Amino acid sequence: MEDELLALQDEAGVELASVVDNNALEQFRVRYLGRKGLFSGLMRKLGQVAKEDRPRLGKLANEIKQNLEKAFTARKEILSRQGSTDSAAFDLTLPGRCYPFGKLHPVTQIMDEICEIFAGLGFGIAEGPDVETDFYNFEALNIPPHHPARDMHDTFYINDKVLLRTHTSPMQARIMENNSPPLRFIAPGKVYRCDSDITHTPMFHQVEGFLVDHKVSFADLKGVLSVFIARMFDADTPIRFRPSFFPFTEPSAEVDIGCVMCGGKGCRVCKQTGWLEILGAGLIDPEVFKKVDYDIDEYSGFAFGLGVERIAMLKYGINDIRLYYENDLRFLGQF
Ligand code: DAH
Repeated sequence: MEDELLALQDEAGVELASVVDNNALEQFRVRYLGRKGLFSGLMRKLGQVAKEDRPRLGKLANEIKQNLEKAFTARKEILSRQGSTDSAAFDLTLPGRCYPFGKLHPVTQIMDEICEIFAGLGFGIAEGPDVETDFYNFEALNIPPHHPARDMHDTFYINDKVLLRTHTSPMQARIMENNSPPLRFIAPGKVYRCDSDITHTPMFHQVEGFLVDHKVSFADLKGVLSVFIARMFDADTPIRFRPSFFPFTEPSAEVDIGCVMCGGKGCRVCKQTGWLEILGAGLIDPEVFKKVDYDIDEYSGFAFGLGVERIAMLKYGINDIRLYYENDLRFLGQF
């Protein structure tokens, strides 16, 4: 009797391991655990064994029944997790679904690249608020109320004194007022202007950079920007500094690179000039230093600001800035 019970347990274990669908599982249950099944058959024989053996064999039979029921339930759970109800409809040899990998947005990739280049030149990285005060966005940068330069900024105002920052330059004042020179920082981030066409989106990204120390000259600015451009584009990319005006720098310049589309010969993208503007820069105006109580006889510095989408457009040859923000995976997947 004992041997028969143990043999039944072994046999059931082997059979259960080969059950792959619910039909076979039900057949297994009827065959071993059903009312007329093999186990019940053995239990009926228990009445015929010697009286003194009965308690021991009864206990063993109970254990084996519990084991079988536990194994049955475990198998049932495995099958339901696999979602298998019918082995014919479930082809284990089919390849799995391939899910596409996500990628960083091209603007994020360029932003990271810019930060890496300046970090390599010893610049710290700082981020500031998108919702900014009029003071930091304009006044601290020598743009008083009613200054004509405000017109160029197409500002989204929240109220009289609060706005969405129109550039990352306010970070110059924010960093300077909380630290003392020497300072070397870049400030990447989102900026907002009420403007939308093929070269403008209402939200875009800039990286502001500045350095303050004793005896900083325009040559230092040229050196840093030349290294940046050589690393961002080709090492032999032509550069020129063109005189310009910004209220917070004096002298000011706009920096052009040789057109990456036509190699400088002249094309539609560079409007036949052979040059493309990529950033604004200059020596920090003493008026900006006065706002943060820096001694203008002691310190000088340079600053620059660049548009990330614009650099990405030039680098990848993209002619419509809006493509970055339409979330078309056919576009975004190319970078
Ligand atoms: N803030 C300027 C803009 O958004 C860009 C800029 C120009 C930043 C010259 C600078 C600078 O730091 O020196 O148009």
